[in-house]
Amino acid sequence: MRNLRRVLRSVLILVCLSLVVHGQQLVLPLHSGSVRFAAFGDMGTGTAAQYELARMMYSLHEKFPFDFVVMLGDNIYGGNTSTDFRTKFELPYKLLLDHGVKFYASLGNHDNAAIEKAYKPFNMDGQQYYTYKKGNVQFFALDSNYMDPKEVAWLTKELRNSGADWKICYFHHPLYSSAAFHGSSLELRQILEPLFVQHGVQVVIAGHDHVYERVKPQKGISYFVAGSGGALRRGNLRKTQLTEVGYDQDQVFLLVEISGDELDFQAVSRIGKVVDSGSIHRNPKQNGDLTLEQRGPRAD
Ligand SMILES: [Fe+2]
Repeated sequence: MRNLRRVLRSVLILVCLSLVVHGQQLVLPLHSGSVRFAAFGDMGTGTAAQYELARMMYSLHEKFPFDFVVMLGDNIYGGNTSTDFRTKFELPYKLLLDHGVKFYASLGNHDNAAIEKAYKPFNMDGQQYYTYKKGNVQFFALDSNYMDPKEVAWLTKELRNSGADWKICYFHHPLYSSAAFHGSSLELRQILEPLFVQHGVQVVIAGHDHVYERVKPQKGISYFVAGSGGALRRGNLRKTQLTEVGYDQDQVFLLVEISGDELDFQAVSRIGKVVDSGSIHRNPKQNGDLTLEQRGPRAD
């Protein structure tokens, strides 16, 4: 019993130290007038872990006031009653919502499309896929559950007509992932990757695998998996040759800041540990030709 108490006390001290060391560290530059957002997926579990990650997001929001959050799908698990929306979205993100942070959802395989696209706080405006601009950045929220010819034609047209400096696509199923449970969505990659390359998409963010991974740039495009916003598959990341940085030990969200031709990012865990950070530089003369530098701690 005494030994158990000693072990528990040591664990508690370690947790506290960890909070002190990692607590709410911000490594983003905070340029004035920059586009600032958070991204995560697979969050809508209603578990304590979802609420704890939400609290950490709010803590970081006080230092890095991001305006919006992109949701990578599996937004609400296990039903779409008003209670589900309240306990798996409205309550965990209440402080962010109260501060005017907007959420822009995409749909995962556990989502009810008809109900969620009509749910006002998800800002889908009745659309299963849609696009919007923030400063010099255009976002494309796709429905990767059903990538039918109609959606592909829409995306092609929207990408072609986009005059934005930065084009960021986000959706649920990752084109590249080293997680064991799902891994890369190869059929989807065949359809989307040529479009992304042709039209100068620089960054793609997905969920579905409940881990964090930053994939080595593929054909000039940076791919992130950020599917541990609530659900987590601890130890599921295999770290293949695709992996630049990965983290599968805790829930994670991604913070992104874009200013001019520079995009800075940091991935933060539930206890505020910075598990990845770096910069992506856009070459204005060559769409899709990017350089990426990493700074800060590696997660592996
Ligand atoms: Fe999923």
